[in-house]
Amino acid sequence: MLTDLLLAILHHLLVFLLAGVLAGELVLVRTGLSGRNLKVLGHIDRMYGLTALAIIVVGVCRVVLGLKGWEYYVASGAFWAKMAAFAAVGILSVKPTIRILKWARAGEGYTVPDAEIAAARRFLRLEVAVFALIPIFAAMMARGVG
Ligand code: HEM
Repeated sequence: MLTDLLLAILHHLLVFLLAGVLAGELVLVRTGLSGRNLKVLGHIDRMYGLTALAIIVVGVCRVVLGLKGWEYYVASGAFWAKMAAFAAVGILSVKPTIRILKWARAGEGYTVPDAEIAAARRFLRLEVAVFALIPIFAAMMARGVG
């Protein structure tokens, strides 16, 4: 019971952290991005990757060690929909991450071209849209819907 509670608390905190980090990226990736913000964005994107990794570890622990048992989740369509949405967010984050690494390497004197900002923002907005599906599927799977 305590393990389940602690994992649930950790899961929620990490999920909110990831949402915050994603929001931070959307705020920073704007026309005229340059200087110190390039470095900050690089740090934020690393944090994004580490948080996503921690969510996977804690999520798998919840499946295996949670009160319902792993069989419950494996049989849930909503669980697999949630995993697919999470994977889609991960795939959508690859392109912005590659761009952010390139920008950060260019140094503080560099200003990111508008076209690259627009392209990265398209991916980030898509990430936000798919991310929003995850708590919906989570609530469904927790209640045995779908
Ligand atoms: C950004 C990604 C994720 C978000 C936003 C998210 C969100 C949530 C939320 C809001 C709940 C609470 C559902 C409720 O009680 O109403 C939950 C529960 C849960 N999540 Fe996640 N989750 C994410 C990733 C993952 C991953 C990767 C896994 C597994 C590999 C996972 C496994 C679980 C499990 C096992 C529960 C417990 C459901 C229950 O009480 O039966 N989650 N998640």
